[in-house]
Amino acid sequence: MSKPVDFNDRMLSLGLARVSEAAALASAKLIGRGDEKAADQAAVDAMRTQLNKLDIAGVVVIGEGERDEAPMLYIGEEVGTGDGPGVDIALDPLEGTTLTAKDMPNALAVIAIGPRGSMLHAPDVYMEKLAIGPGYDEGVVTLDMSPTERVRALAAAKGCSAADITVCILERPRHERMIAEVRGTGAAIRLITDGDVAGVMHCAEPHITGIDMYMGSGGAPEGVLAAAALKCMGGQIFGRLLFRNDDERGRAEKAGITEMDKIYARDEMVTDNVIFSATGVTSGSLLPGIKRDEVGWLTTETLLMRSRTGSVRRMSYRTPVSSLPGLGDG
Ligand code: FBP
Repeated sequence: MSKPVDFNDRMLSLGLARVSEAAALASAKLIGRGDEKAADQAAVDAMRTQLNKLDIAGVVVIGEGERDEAPMLYIGEEVGTGDGPGVDIALDPLEGTTLTAKDMPNALAVIAIGPRGSMLHAPDVYMEKLAIGPGYDEGVVTLDMSPTERVRALAAAKGCSAADITVCILERPRHERMIAEVRGTGAAIRLITDGDVAGVMHCAEPHITGIDMYMGSGGAPEGVLAAAALKCMGGQIFGRLLFRNDDERGRAEKAGITEMDKIYARDEMVTDNVIFSATGVTSGSLLPGIKRDEVGWLTTETLLMRSRTGSVRRMSYRTPVSSLPGLGDG
């Protein structure tokens, strides 16, 4: 019997950067073209092709959807060459399809890989989320607190007033009361129209992004991806699955969830060391987007991180426009 292969996060991480770069580059031609579906499809195709070149025996646990609704990178799809460690993969080839279609900030191509069994198999339902950056005591803010209590607790821990706290929230009618309550504390709010993986990641680098806390509901799969990012960058995230009907509860049961009301802390969503790669598609406060210059180059920037070491690489990659179908000559 062959020996199981270890999860070599050091070597794998460099290959992972190529995977998110490829997805981001593939969607470049669709930035600002008003076609979410085409942008997503281009990113999915490219991510899958690159992923299949990696020496891993990978299983997609957070992907494009259930097998019957997503032909590629569906939950349970086996990817990689098969010659390598058994790994769980969480991915979103284009996080912010509408942001890309409208050329708005913070669209990303994201992927995280960890040893088999290391990631929560979150169903495609909503998740109530709360995140803060590194440097605070565990549980200084919790999902059970009201928005006002969270702002006050974080301000006390930071040694500032509520007015010096900035909270990031998805702009949705379902968040109207939360937004009003946070405003009532005197805190500032950065409203985003989409892209809560980036929203959560912003908390990890408040000196760059100006964001101290993220709160509100968004996709549960995005919650696991954000947990993987914070496991590398530092910071806390809590998530509770939200179900609107029995079908959604059924999805959770199918995914192996037994405690429907459980609050998951970061290390319960991602239980082992992971590697995480995000490439900017459109420019944001965390990562610049894809740039095309007059002389025929495309440049991407990627944030490549390993939780085992806490290392964060910012990698710039330049390629001729002509190397990408649909953008250049060939
Ligand atoms: P897509 O990239 O799949 O369009 O998702 C964008 C997103 O904004 C996520 O970041 C977020 O978790 C989710 O959609 C929020 O869902 P909704 O638009 O239903 O509020």
